[in-house]
Amino acid sequence: MTVLPPAPPVDESELLAGFDATIARNDRIEPRDWMPERYRSTLVRQIAQHAHSEIIGMQPEGSWIARAPSLRRKATLLAKVQDEAGHGLYLYSACETLGVSRQELTEKLVAGTQKYSSIFNYPTLSYADVGTIGWLVDGAAICNQVPLCRTSFGPYGRAMIRVCKEESFHQRQGFELLSTMMRGTDAQRAMVQESVDRFWWPALMMFGPPDADSPNTEQSMAWGIKRDTNDELRQKFVDMSVPQAAALGVTLPDPGLVWNESKGGHDFGQPDWDEFYAVVKGSGPCNAQRTAHRRRAHEEGAWVRDAATAFARSQQEVS
Ligand SMILES: [Fe+2]
Ligand SMILES: [Fe+2]
Repeated sequence: MTVLPPAPPVDESELLAGFDATIARNDRIEPRDWMPERYRSTLVRQIAQHAHSEIIGMQPEGSWIARAPSLRRKATLLAKVQDEAGHGLYLYSACETLGVSRQELTEKLVAGTQKYSSIFNYPTLSYADVGTIGWLVDGAAICNQVPLCRTSFGPYGRAMIRVCKEESFHQRQGFELLSTMMRGTDAQRAMVQESVDRFWWPALMMFGPPDADSPNTEQSMAWGIKRDTNDELRQKFVDMSVPQAAALGVTLPDPGLVWNESKGGHDFGQPDWDEFYAVVKGSGPCNAQRTAHRRRAHEEGAWVRDAATAFARSQQEVS
């Protein structure tokens, strides 16, 4: 038996210099590359939170599939909700390349130790909410996610390219639904306005707290896993939404919303940040319901996972 000489001690500062140089060149870090532990754990948190949001985000709209007003609307909504499941799966796979399993991540989600976007803790009270979620929530998601196509971690950036293509389709279907309703009856127009009134502020919260209260932003931007600050993205979203609201004929519920010529963007009011933190901490209108539903689905799906594992094992034995 040949005894190999012990491996030379790894010089971490050399590895770190290589990592920093890759980031500085705007190249991608791949799963087999050395990375600082904090980079890895920050990415796991960010990608897991994103994956959980896709999966939990199926619930508010999913509850309208059986009540959609026509076969066409039902098929569209069903396809959209299925897309979100797909997004969750790409993202869990990207996260698995960092050495955590999907099982582990799901357990953390149902135990409440990992978060998902607070927007999904708001209820969908009318069918117009399906359109508003497509327009505003998928619209905000696009603002957040397009820059992530250039994120420094390869598997995440590549997953985001496909996710973003589908999100932009989701946004357009939401806008099309709302514009159809706005050309309908007074009751339909009122339903759209009421829905926009409820979702506008929570949509602004999707970009996270103001930059001054976002301590992780600086490090995440230095690592190239965040490309714009929360406030920059929020501004972009507002500027994008104002002309779309005008085209629809809906009013955005912010008396402070006004064009500012000197900055070349809109001034706008701040969401209720106390409400944001309360929802993030678990006191939103639907937090308990969303997590309980996901937990139940996970438990009821145990036999499917067992059967799939047993089948995969039997195939290995055959080959
Ligand atoms: Fe999605
Ligand atoms: Fe979407």
